[in-house]
Amino acid sequence: MALGPTCYGFLFYIKKHRPELLHYNSKSKNTIMTKSAFSSFLISFAVFPLIVMWVFPHLVSSVSRRQYNQLELPSGTYGPETLVFDCNGEGPYTGVSDGRILKWHGSEVGWKDFAVTSPLRTSRLCDGSSDTSAEHVCGRPLGLKFNQATCDLYIADAYFGLLVVGRKGGLARQLATSAEGVPFLFANALDIDQKTGAVYFTDTSTRFRRWEFGIAMESGDNTGRLMRYDPKTKKVKVLLKHLFFSNGVALSRNSSFLLVTETNANRVLRFWLEGPRSQTRDVFAKLDGCPDNIERNPKGEFWVAQNPKFDSIGTPLQTNISALKLDEEGKVLRVLNEEFGSLSDVIEKDDCMWLGSVLQSHVGMIL
Ligand SMILES: *[C@@H]1O[C@H](CO)[C@@H](O)[C@H](O)[C@H]1NC(C)=O
Ligand SMILES: *[C@@H]1O[C@H](CO)[C@@H](O)[C@H](O)[C@H]1NC(C)=O
Repeated sequence: MALGPTCYGFLFYIKKHRPELLHYNSKSKNTIMTKSAFSSFLISFAVFPLIVMWVFPHLVSSVSRRQYNQLELPSGTYGPETLVFDCNGEGPYTGVSDGRILKWHGSEVGWKDFAVTSPLRTSRLCDGSSDTSAEHVCGRPLGLKFNQATCDLYIADAYFGLLVVGRKGGLARQLATSAEGVPFLFANALDIDQKTGAVYFTDTSTRFRRWEFGIAMESGDNTGRLMRYDPKTKKVKVLLKHLFFSNGVALSRNSSFLLVTETNANRVLRFWLEGPRSQTRDVFAKLDGCPDNIERNPKGEFWVAQNPKFDSIGTPLQTNISALKLDEEGKVLRVLNEEFGSLSDVIEKDDCMWLGSVLQSHVGMIL
């Protein structure tokens, strides 16, 4: 794995949540940034965004002219990694650090419990938890999408695989925990073909669990997979493997292709589902940050949320590009440049933008 900037600021994260893992980092060869890595970092993360902003000022939208709000999560929790609205347009719903899937009921009521993924979970043990070492007991729901016809919520949980829960919520039912005999270790994101009900989802690694994501990144792990779950046959098919931290998934508007982000390769891959290139892949977009979730908006454009890169001693490399909007050809239409810290998800709904983040304790909202 190349030296230099790494995704996600994992050193900060590990310092906070898994301090014992620092031993691993201190022994790693990757902690020294070479001169050439430093200059490539300068070009990629300081000069390039400035050039983009200077040449294409219209691409850089200023949020300050619009109203920005934050919806604080219940006390102790953080990490609303993805956001989703249900078949009646209610929500958003989000999965948080203590394993709950919460639903937003408006500012009067706030967040209420909707569903959980772990049969082992108890409120006493888990509610309000931000402890990554409890996630395998409490659950860590990351990917969420509603089937618009049935109003069932499909869930990719990092520890409990692919699950589904009905419109009343409660304990979700497990649908799949492995593919081709290899267990999912880090189910992450999903999208649903609303015509067929097929669920496309990622497993980020078959070697590392979610709490080890820093090591997965630093080691250049490429065991990520993209898969399809067929609700009729209840079978899982592997579409792509050997992915570098496969993360977000989005279908194109007419389901002719599927996009998957590879966080640790700083790119978005396209997997063709129809046409002459069906079942083959190509690179849809190269990015300078670490892409997380990707979401299609009603126009068929895609929002890619980006975490900033951090240097090898844990200093954030500010690029001021938190998210990009891409058209169906992968061309950049818009850049969200405000400082939201790390963004994991951008959802457009009714002229409003909702912002999720795996590290923050609130959901952002731009009116
Ligand atoms: C899907 O949409 C793309 C882009 O708009 C178009 O080129 C393609 O022909 C469409 N495919 C089908 C099967 O409608
Ligand atoms: C990023 O934003 C900060 C604060 O708004 C500003 O000081 C800094 O110059 C910006 N950096 C770039 C590369 O635009």
